[in-house]
Amino acid sequence: MEKECDFLVLGSGIAGLSFAIKAADLGSVAIVTKKNKVESNTNYAQGGIAAVTDKDDTFESHIQDTLKSGAGLCKEDVVRFVVTEGPERIRELIEWGVQFTKTKEEDAYDLGREGGHSRRRVLHAEDLTGREVERALTEKAASKKNIKIYENFFAIDLICRSKLTGGKETKDRCLGAYVFDADKNVVHTFKAKFIMLATGGSGKVYLITTNPDIATGDGVAMAYRGGAEIANMGFIQFHPTCLYHPDAKSFLISEAVRGEGAKLRLKSGSTFMERYHPMGALAPRDIVAQAIDTELKKSGDGYVLLDITHKDRKFLLKRFPYIYNRCLEFGIDMAVDPIPVVPAAHYQCGGVLVNPFGQASIDGLFAFGEVACTGLHGANRLASNSLLEALVFAHRAFKKAQELLPTVDTDSIPIPPWDTKGATESDESIVVSNNWEEIRMCMWNYVGIVRSNKRLERAKRRIDMIAGEIEEYYRNFTITTSLLELRNIATVAGVIIECSRLRKESRGLHYNLDYPDKDDINWLRDTVVKKDSTG
Ligand code: FAD
Ligand code: SIN
Repeated sequence: MEKECDFLVLGSGIAGLSFAIKAADLGSVAIVTKKNKVESNTNYAQGGIAAVTDKDDTFESHIQDTLKSGAGLCKEDVVRFVVTEGPERIRELIEWGVQFTKTKEEDAYDLGREGGHSRRRVLHAEDLTGREVERALTEKAASKKNIKIYENFFAIDLICRSKLTGGKETKDRCLGAYVFDADKNVVHTFKAKFIMLATGGSGKVYLITTNPDIATGDGVAMAYRGGAEIANMGFIQFHPTCLYHPDAKSFLISEAVRGEGAKLRLKSGSTFMERYHPMGALAPRDIVAQAIDTELKKSGDGYVLLDITHKDRKFLLKRFPYIYNRCLEFGIDMAVDPIPVVPAAHYQCGGVLVNPFGQASIDGLFAFGEVACTGLHGANRLASNSLLEALVFAHRAFKKAQELLPTVDTDSIPIPPWDTKGATESDESIVVSNNWEEIRMCMWNYVGIVRSNKRLERAKRRIDMIAGEIEEYYRNFTITTSLLELRNIATVAGVIIECSRLRKESRGLHYNLDYPDKDDINWLRDTVVKKDSTG
């Protein structure tokens, strides 16, 4: 079945929704989202949104913190416009109904602090900022007549003109996407003037992650298969403090807890971060995660402790009600017990390479939010800069699309419907579940916080083999969302490995034992990969 619109938005997190709300004033918007509309990384964001809103804060200070955290690889012009355009985007969010926590006197916003920030500047809604943002944005989107949201619709692949013309195009153009309706088991063809990838990150590529199940890197995988340039996927950010408990799946303990003075301790009770960085437990994330990894390897322990027992229960319940109650469900009273934590895959700093307006290397295709590599984060994202980046780039993409809209040639070539190629039902779904586990384990063991040439080569061999097996399975059997996601995590794992193998130095989130130092002469640049040509 064919559906047509002006803007096809893939994803309903902060990036997709904030774009759609604006684009609805220009034309018809279809939001395709693979689960229910709020299920996204955004919905789980805890700490908040970094922006200069306090009169004693300065743009320069936020800019310098971002650049320092990015370990030399941020694009400074991007950092400057994201930071300076940030407050306007925050005002807009507030206008749309987001209620950030205020101070006791209710006359100002309460500002949190997180790793790498030289001062308090993170706006938050208690410790569940993302849920409040999703609530307000989905409500706002629902009030727009021009927006139609398709839930449980899974974008499979982009439709690019070169595939239809047999590669005769000099500059390719994206025309739409094939989308699987998971409830009805049919594939629709969505045609649009502009296609907006806002599909978020890829934490599920790793065995241990803070991310929810939707984070399977679908956008990067689709863009890669479609021939777009992908950059810096080797910079996977591991959050230092994910709850360590056999029954807790993906539960983050916000960095804002360290912002309120929590200490990191070994099981013996001694602190260690002062040996690694002058900012101690509030050092940038790459440094804290690598320090924990080193200490765990040294001691053989399974976790370190996050200790905020110096704060009383009343404070903790007010500032961190969600974290406090979740910990209690696991038998941990954070007012008296230090919390066992481990690092976990959290955020992809790389992604679909875009210009300052979110335009990818294929015409008609935009990417923003976690799926994109904009140049803001460099080799390590500064805490709470992600929601900010999504807002700023969604706005810039909207401005660019508004400018280009009158020039788009709507008379495009016919798009063939999805071809099932005689696929049959599989009776071996064990293949899918086995490969899921194998990929995630392989990435965790060989492409984690500390890498080496040998580990990367081993990972490449395994992932190549598994990816081949999955492609064959994909061609022969009818699709399911689980199979589509498996195919995508295999593709993204391959891209992460490729970017990591290319970078022959250690910088930010990429630490390779065989090249332990930074090499500013050769590697002050992005690692860009493209299907069938890397460089
Ligand atoms: P998402 O919010 O992940 O949305 C992606 C959307 O795309 C979802 O709707 C998903 O269902 C949909 N989708 C994906 N694939 C497909 C497909 N194939 N077809 C259709 N739909 C698809 N950042 C901060 O700045 N501050 C924080 O405090 C913070 N805390 C965090 C806490 C946690 C636990 C996590 C996991 C992340 C946190 N981050 C934080 C990071 C931040 O939440 C994300 O980077 C940001 O929300 C990404 O927004 P997005 O709109 O790009 O993607
Ligand atoms: C957190 O609350 O620690 C997450 C913040 C982020 O990822 O930016």
